[in-house]
Amino acid sequence: MKICCLGAGYVGGPTMAMIAYKCSDITVTVADINEARINAWNSDELPVFEPGLDDVVKAARGRNLFFTTDKVTAIKEADIIFVSVGTPTKTYGAGAGKAADLKYIELCARDIAEHSDRSKIVVEKSTLPVRTAQGLKTVLSANTREGIDFQVLSNPEFLAEGTAIEDLENPDRVLIGGEEETEAGRAAIETLAKVYEYWVPRENIITTNLWSSELSKLVANAFLAQRISSINSISALCERTGANVDQVAYAIGRDSRIGPKFLKASVGFGGSCFQKDILNLVYLCEYFGLPDVAAYWEQVIIMNDWQKSRFSQKIVTTLFNTVNGKRIAMLGFAFKKDTNDTRETAAMYVGRDLLDEQAVLAVHDPKVSREQIFKDLKESETDAEGNPNPLVDICDDPYEAAKGAHGLAVMTEWDSFKDLDYKKIYEGMYKPAFIFDGRNILDHEALREIGFEVFAIGGK
Ligand code: NAD
Ligand code: UGA
Repeated sequence: MKICCLGAGYVGGPTMAMIAYKCSDITVTVADINEARINAWNSDELPVFEPGLDDVVKAARGRNLFFTTDKVTAIKEADIIFVSVGTPTKTYGAGAGKAADLKYIELCARDIAEHSDRSKIVVEKSTLPVRTAQGLKTVLSANTREGIDFQVLSNPEFLAEGTAIEDLENPDRVLIGGEEETEAGRAAIETLAKVYEYWVPRENIITTNLWSSELSKLVANAFLAQRISSINSISALCERTGANVDQVAYAIGRDSRIGPKFLKASVGFGGSCFQKDILNLVYLCEYFGLPDVAAYWEQVIIMNDWQKSRFSQKIVTTLFNTVNGKRIAMLGFAFKKDTNDTRETAAMYVGRDLLDEQAVLAVHDPKVSREQIFKDLKESETDAEGNPNPLVDICDDPYEAAKGAHGLAVMTEWDSFKDLDYKKIYEGMYKPAFIFDGRNILDHEALREIGFEVFAIGGK
């Protein structure tokens, strides 16, 4: 069997690498239009940082895993074609700011139809609005030769960045949606299920109709993000009342009906998908004439935006209502630990707020590149004469970032931040020295003993 995947991004790359790793008799080719990305997948410096990914790629690459820009050959040869391209929020026209932009998906469908000379299974791996498969099928069948049939399946991906390999190796479930009502549909579902069965127990492979599968992906992300916005809303109440949000989260999470996961209060959730997928859900609810349902889910985003700006305001008000010319150290820029991804990271929004207040930002992140940080902050590295930007200082070393700072903000929960020498950091900072722990990962009592003034999300 031959599998191809269009899109070698955060999902396409690791997902296909895992299939190739687990199924040595299946040839897996990942095709992308971005040549630099493909070159990186073929090098020792993979374009995605994920713990464990290097080993999986190295074990399969060149054996039965290939990365290429030649999508035509990849499509021609494949029995199953995964589509794993981006589905960003639309920035233009109807639905701008909410609906998913499906142009990359449609282009893939047209490519598949044009270059296929036999029937194939097309798998939606990207996160898509419910009923996209309908459009996909129409484009495929309108552009293909007679006698060729495409079965469209929905197989959304639930991996989280930073734990992608673990999630792919032991998924809670694999979801496959297809035309359950037809024999050909059931056969296609079975073919894909057999691939996952190489390593996933059958009882963890769920099959549904197409629309349930497409919608389940959006709903899963909406429920996860809703828990974070819920606990973040409570963090503000904790700060007013003397309750401690981590204690509240622990106490409610011990109820097995609530469960302990995704209850960590933070400076706000980031990442490429939660916001995009909830906005998409909101758009769909509006489109299908359900404005109350739309407003209910939109509140998750509104609360998250509020949490981010509440954090920047806290920094400014605590530093005596002005950060003008003051150095603020930002520890962490990625949207979560163990990834180099900064898409929608809270650090970017807090950083921009502080720059608006004319602070000097000293940013340290173990994995994010300086180019990326400048880009996200909408700042240039140098001025026209080549002088370095006086407002943004990217530091390889966390101690250097904190040196001469008035405040230090923990933006990402990197484990390495827990073990820093905070006495040394304290000595290098202006006094009073403030710490704003946006992730509640530090030992606040110990920091206070050193002399820091500590602000913790949701209490002491
Ligand atoms: P990404 O931007 O990292 O990768 C998408 C890739 O598709 C890019 O490399 C782009 O060059 C390529 N591409 C675009 N058009 C193409 C074409 N016509 N042919 C071949 N390649 C093409 O995106 P991602 O983070 O991998 O996300 C992909 C999808 O998966 C999205 O729908 C996203 O919502 C979903 N998803 C993402 C995650 C995640 O953790 N990032 C998790 C689950 C689901
Ligand atoms: C999320 C989902 O967890 C995946 O199941 C899904 O496949 C993926 O989105 C997607 O569709 O893209 P991801 O965004 O990679 O995965 O990472 P998460 O672990 O969900 O974290 C998202 C954000 O929420 C991060 O900024 C994280 O710091 C924050 N978060 C998470 C909290 O603030 N508190 C928590 O308790 C958990």
